[in-house]
Amino acid sequence: MIASVAAGALVGGRSWAGPPATLAAAARTAGLRFGAAVRASALDQPRLRDILAREAATLTPELELKWAALEPAAGRRDVAGADRIAAFARSHGQRLRGHTLLWHRSVPDWAARELASGGGWGIVDHHVTATVGRYGALVDEWDVVNEPIEIGARADGLRANVFLEAFGSDYVARALRTAHAAAPRARLFVNEYDLEYDLPTHRARRAALLRLATTLARRGAPLHGIGIQAHLDLGKGMIATDELRGFVAALAALGLTVAITELDCKEVDYIRPADERDRLVAAHVAGFLAAVLPHPATSAVSCWGLTDDQSWLEVTAADRARFPGAWADGSSPGLNRGLPFDAAGRPKAMRDALLAAFAAHPRS
Ligand code: XIL
Repeated sequence: MIASVAAGALVGGRSWAGPPATLAAAARTAGLRFGAAVRASALDQPRLRDILAREAATLTPELELKWAALEPAAGRRDVAGADRIAAFARSHGQRLRGHTLLWHRSVPDWAARELASGGGWGIVDHHVTATVGRYGALVDEWDVVNEPIEIGARADGLRANVFLEAFGSDYVARALRTAHAAAPRARLFVNEYDLEYDLPTHRARRAALLRLATTLARRGAPLHGIGIQAHLDLGKGMIATDELRGFVAALAALGLTVAITELDCKEVDYIRPADERDRLVAAHVAGFLAAVLPHPATSAVSCWGLTDDQSWLEVTAADRARFPGAWADGSSPGLNRGLPFDAAGRPKAMRDALLAAFAAHPRS
């Protein structure tokens, strides 16, 4: 339906371009929110600014709200990048997804040292309260804890990070309570990766995350949702459709909402023609969305960037090595094509897949 509108529907015998179907508008019509991650430095690009302003209802600062970026030295807060994204969002009527308060990969060295030597919860409290307090209602969702699960480490499936070492497994609930006190109206999330495939680690991670969510819900912690990162990968086989559906339903039964927070797709084959690659990515993304969007508990989809040139996904040396002789003439495999727009800002098949999925799954 959307495709025919985009192609120009016939109205009264005359061609009518129809309303511009943006991802933000299509999601809104379906009762969903669409957003994208962005780095402050990318806001220098006029073309990207236009695409972000048009297509996204929420922005996720890709780096700028992480603790190591915000407070590189004790007591020295650097909010310039986050403020820049916040100002862009305000002037375009967008909200921010707050990513992320506690993540084992973004703890500044000074904080890690203090936490490990018994510095106490005050360090976390100050960071969370200052960060959440600065942006007020502009940030209506926070990823309070990012990637708390680690498979193969502990029996309870929790990652033995600096927070767990310092405060025990209750640190997740405690962080949620601290964030809730600072932003009583914000929806608070635990965000996690490797949940999407029919692989042993993904199966174990879904189970461990569901256990954590169940414990938090039973204890009355202010947890409102689970973020499924959704860094898809064409090399990981089939999407675990039935299991993902069951996972979303189980989270919903706990009263939780589900957000797709970091959608993108790593490719495997970099030598096919670009349009074929784009169709493979789009079909895979469509398969994933068909698993998570039917349940009304799924409330939002964010991509981890919008244009391929901004993606954190790279064509690596190992990727190149799979195609001996290719690019020997000095040409290049180019970019990974795992986002809705190409480097020139042209929409790709992945964008059509998102539009079609939103149209197919309206919330009642
Ligand atoms: C990534 C950024 O995209 C990179 O630029 C940065 O170097 C590392 O972090 N899961 C997350 C995100 O929750 O914060 C990560 O973002 C990607 C994986």
